[in-house]
Amino acid sequence: MAIQIPRGTQDILPGTVEKWQYIEAKAKEICELYNYKEIRTPIFESTELFLRGVGDTTDVVQKEMYTFEDRGGRSLTLRPEGTASVARSYVNNKMFGSPTQPTKLYYIGQMFRYERPQAGRFRQFVQFGIEALGSNDPSIDAEVIALAVELYKSLGLNNLKVVINSLGDKESRQAHRDALINHFQPRINEFCGDCQGRLEKNPLRILDCKKDRDHELMATAPSILDYLNEESKVYFDKVVAYLSALGIQYEIDPNLVRGLDYYYHTAFEIMSTSEGFGAITTLCGGGRYNGLVQEIGGPETPGIGFALSIERLISAMEAENVKFPFEDSIDCYVVALGDKAKETAVKLLFDLRKAGIVAEKDYQDKKMKAQFKAADRLQAKYTIVFGDDELEKGVVSIKEMETGEQQEVAFEDAVAFITAKKSGER
Ligand code: HAM
Repeated sequence: MAIQIPRGTQDILPGTVEKWQYIEAKAKEICELYNYKEIRTPIFESTELFLRGVGDTTDVVQKEMYTFEDRGGRSLTLRPEGTASVARSYVNNKMFGSPTQPTKLYYIGQMFRYERPQAGRFRQFVQFGIEALGSNDPSIDAEVIALAVELYKSLGLNNLKVVINSLGDKESRQAHRDALINHFQPRINEFCGDCQGRLEKNPLRILDCKKDRDHELMATAPSILDYLNEESKVYFDKVVAYLSALGIQYEIDPNLVRGLDYYYHTAFEIMSTSEGFGAITTLCGGGRYNGLVQEIGGPETPGIGFALSIERLISAMEAENVKFPFEDSIDCYVVALGDKAKETAVKLLFDLRKAGIVAEKDYQDKKMKAQFKAADRLQAKYTIVFGDDELEKGVVSIKEMETGEQQEVAFEDAVAFITAKKSGER
């Protein structure tokens, strides 16, 4: 039996990979505009990074990590997300010492989570994310959200909803935590084992539980917004005021707690509101993580960012019937007949490509008719046709495939002829 691809992963084949390349190019373009620089970090990290960074009471850490021991007995983990890695790199490379702060970074790369695969949920997926480290200015929270929204819009998405919340600072979170414990404790035995464990360690995570989502105490749980201290309230007000100034519509959802532990203050998600998009509508998630850098051994540094998966982005584009603006065609197909002509075609093809022309030829000793068929299949705009006789006369016949128009051209002018046609098309 043929070996199958692992569950929750996918091959991205030619025909689809162009969509990925297009999106990645758009993401890079927008990062350039907003002055975020690319960072590439390893795909695996020491497990400790995620235990401390993402938080050991989160589902991601408790249930979803691909953790293994290497031959040297170190515990390593395939990264489930990018923020902790970026924060680690920020510390290791002493980026905090740079005079230009905040440090604005972006990444595109594979992430790994052992989740139950379903539409929009994979075990290997690709996140595009940005992180701005070193600023406590609420305008950068708005900038990060704006970048995400603008990227989606530039890709043709309109059915979007920005949902935002504040998780407050340490003091506000402590007050909220106490209120949550008081709220859930009397009936905690009605909740799943995970939630029972979370009550003392991290009661906020109970609000994020998939199993107990419908328990009546969930709906009446104390809202973080009622526990924000003055400073946190002022901060949140400024963030949403900036969003309004940028014309970004948002909804405040006090139940938005996010699935990772490092968030303080701003937390946000962007959802698709397209009908029939599927059960998982979150396209993008992010927020402020002011404690993270310190948690992993660096100096106290505020940070904010988001990540989105390209898999969900493509599904959202498909749900909105967005056309990808690329054509799947080649410039020129060389049809050669006879031994000498075939040999000459090798050099002609090389010269065409050197001149920047996307060119192809037959490699399977096909007859003329089959070569034309291949040219059609590849949607060649032109064919250069010659046999041994033409070669002797020093000519080729160039056919424009769409019109059927055919012209005889001197062999040595063939590359220049196609080049001129190609630049004329632009
Ligand atoms: P997250 O909410 O865990 O946040 O993931 C962010 C995005 O990654 C999700 O909104 C979704 O688009 C995508 N995603 C997550 N899991 C899967 C999956 N199994 N299959 C497909 N796509 C998935 C983070 O990862 C944070 N690091 C975001 C962040 C950056 N916060 C601050 N900076």
